[in-house]
Amino acid sequence: MSTFLNYKTFWDAKASTPQDAMIAVDGSSNEDVLRHTGAYSARQVAVALDLQPTDRVLELGCGVGRIGRELAPRVAHWEGADISTNMLKVARERLAAQANIGFTELTRTSLRPLADASFDKAYSVAVFIHMDKEDFYLYVEDLARVLKPGGLLYFDAWNLTSAVGWRRFAMEINQHRNADPALRKDVARNQFTSPEEVRAFLQHAGFETLGLFADSPWVQAVAQRRGTGDTAAQARRVQASAPRIVYTPLWTELFSSMMQVLAEGTMSPADGLKLLADDARGEEIAMFRAAYGAMLRTAAANQAL
Ligand SMILES: C[S@@+](CC[C@H](N)C(=O)[O-])C[C@H]1O[C@@H](n2cnc3c(N)ncnc32)[C@H](O)[C@@H]1O
Repeated sequence: MSTFLNYKTFWDAKASTPQDAMIAVDGSSNEDVLRHTGAYSARQVAVALDLQPTDRVLELGCGVGRIGRELAPRVAHWEGADISTNMLKVARERLAAQANIGFTELTRTSLRPLADASFDKAYSVAVFIHMDKEDFYLYVEDLARVLKPGGLLYFDAWNLTSAVGWRRFAMEINQHRNADPALRKDVARNQFTSPEEVRAFLQHAGFETLGLFADSPWVQAVAQRRGTGDTAAQARRVQASAPRIVYTPLWTELFSSMMQVLAEGTMSPADGLKLLADDARGEEIAMFRAAYGAMLRTAAANQAL
């Protein structure tokens, strides 16, 4: 529950120091973790959008430039748009060495400062999960406006229809169940969707859906602005690239286990740590260890007291 009146005040407060800003984007405790998770997300985005060195690319809700830091060197222009002044301040510092970039500070739910048909590709990661459905839809509509006809879009949102996604939703339900009903709901609280809802948003906003992946706690959407472009060929490319776009079964298993340890109390911190030991299982092990290892070690030490 919250007393914040709008998204901007919420996110500026979340990002009141550079360290807090990093924590707010992916729970990062340091730059190394940010680079690690940033590289994973950047790979998903780059494959989904078939990023090219000639592309002008927009990131909506760029935060501290976790993903932009990885992608900007690979494209012609990278534009980071965000509603939070404080997030953008950290992003500017983190990407200071990069010449081909720009930043746009947004007001609520509008890309108005950006020109029509001015980008080849656009993406948004872990942003639509924090806003009302009307705002989510309005942004998708505006993304269609700023993309060139045939331009590509990638985004994600929490997935109510997966078993693990439902458990993530249950965390929010329980919080609300016990909340003081006199307090307003948090403006930026976690929100959840389904593949069908995302498909409807894309269709109404002027996109052809190229791929909708929903076997993880995330719905991941890849779409093409209607107008020009071989949609069927793009859809085939996206389907063929799916293993490098989706949150893998291992990612989902580890996310589920972290929820068990840190939120649900159905797995011990020591067992959680054991899961993060076997790098042979996949690249996600090292990433989760970097992101959660210290937290689990602290929890294990506290239990041992
Ligand atoms: C969880 S962070 C994710 C940041 C980044 N996309 C990443 O994956 O590292 C959410 C970001 O969305 C931004 N944001 C939240 N609501 C927004 C809105 N209504 N318009 C634009 N940006 C918003 C926040 O300021 C924050 O930087």
